[in-house]
Amino acid sequence: MIAYVRRMTLRSIITIPDPVLRELCAPVETVDDDVRALADDMLDTMYDAPGIGLAASQIGVLKRIFVLDVAKEDAPKEPMVFINPKIVWSSEDMSVYQEGCLSIPEYFEDVERPTEVTVQFMNREGAEQEIKADGLLATCIQHELDHLDGKLFIDYLSKLKRDRVVKKFTKQAKLAGIL
Ligand code: NI
Repeated sequence: MIAYVRRMTLRSIITIPDPVLRELCAPVETVDDDVRALADDMLDTMYDAPGIGLAASQIGVLKRIFVLDVAKEDAPKEPMVFINPKIVWSSEDMSVYQEGCLSIPEYFEDVERPTEVTVQFMNREGAEQEIKADGLLATCIQHELDHLDGKLFIDYLSKLKRDRVVKKFTKQAKLAGIL
């Protein structure tokens, strides 16, 4: 038996106000080994952060891929890979969750989104899937899918709140010499 141990690869997570986060991501044409390696790196990066979801644009790759794991902390890991995801149905019922984002560290605000969604996507193996999600999973799918369209959860807040957080992160980036 050959033991194969994949080396963990962590990618840097981009934070606001980096304009890359506002870019539109392009569909993945083929789910090949490169795409699988990207998804695996994204999972490693997400678990390390730690976070429950990560979109490719957050590590500067403008492809329509996101990963998530909404399993409880003490439960076994349930990594999920969504490639070219599309929401084909959303409930009229809405739910409010306090959201955060690895690209906006340590900032949390309530966001209202449809309670349930049906999403079509390809998994890590390139197989077509369709799932109906509710609760935290539904919120997380919508949050991550927004990233692929250059949208962030702060876009759902009042302009006052959004301007305040963007200003704070812009100031931090300037101090850190990033801007
Ligand atoms: Ni996010």
